[in-house]
Amino acid sequence: MQDNLFSTMQPHLVDFTFDAAVADVFPDMLRRSIPGYDNIIAMLGVLAKSYAQDKSNVYDLGCSLGAATLSVHRHTRALSMQHFCVDNSPAMIKRCETKLQRHMPEALVYCVCDDIQNIEIKDASVVLLNFTLQFLPKKARLALLKTIYQGLLPNGVLILSEKLLFNDNEVNQHHIDWHHQFKRANGYSELEISQKRAAIEKVLIPDTLETHQSRLAKAGFTQTQQWFQAFNFSSLIAIKSAGY
Ligand SMILES: C[S@@+](CC[C@H](N)C(=O)[O-])C[C@H]1O[C@@H](n2cnc3c(N)ncnc32)[C@H](O)[C@@H]1O
Repeated sequence: MQDNLFSTMQPHLVDFTFDAAVADVFPDMLRRSIPGYDNIIAMLGVLAKSYAQDKSNVYDLGCSLGAATLSVHRHTRALSMQHFCVDNSPAMIKRCETKLQRHMPEALVYCVCDDIQNIEIKDASVVLLNFTLQFLPKKARLALLKTIYQGLLPNGVLILSEKLLFNDNEVNQHHIDWHHQFKRANGYSELEISQKRAAIEKVLIPDTLETHQSRLAKAGFTQTQQWFQAFNFSSLIAIKSAGY
């Protein structure tokens, strides 16, 4: 379904939530709003194949409709793994469960409707935070990364995708302008772009790349690589070294 949620003037603009109306149009919304989204999803599977371990767990935190889990499974189906898909939106997790049952029926998948901060991470070889950390209160982000680090097996990885903020105002504005240009090119009107921006700016709080890198280091990760960036959207891979 096409995303036209913000196409008409909304007299009382409310903060963005991941409700049923959003879930219904989410694949279209993500493709037209996140530069390189399809590419990131495809590469999550490619990266996961390098680090996924037999008899381990995979966590997709803030899974929405399970696109990242599907990609990982596509590349790792020869391994015996348990997939934990977690989202606190009932609308998202219900649709995710239905979709994964249809597309990866042979896999061991647990779809959990809960806050990702409540989830125990254990025996994980791959943990995905694909555009989710940015929705957590800033003060809660380090604690979650520490929990993930503790729950990863040696050589396990966290893949973290986020919208970025830039310290230099001019640079930041360039990235915002380029992103809006991308949205216009994908058919969003000025009204849709401005209303979506107003609705999401209090719930999606971006960090700079440097903040992400230093937070990952504080959580224990000694190796972090930025493997993707398109405008102000980026993805990092953080590896738990074998010595721990
Ligand atoms: C931008 S979407 C993530 C997209 C998805 N990972 C993908 O790759 O297609 C963010 C998701 O995180 C979920 N979310 C946000 N905060 C959360 C929290 N504290 N606990 C669990 N899920 C959360 C939202 O419900 C939403 O489905």
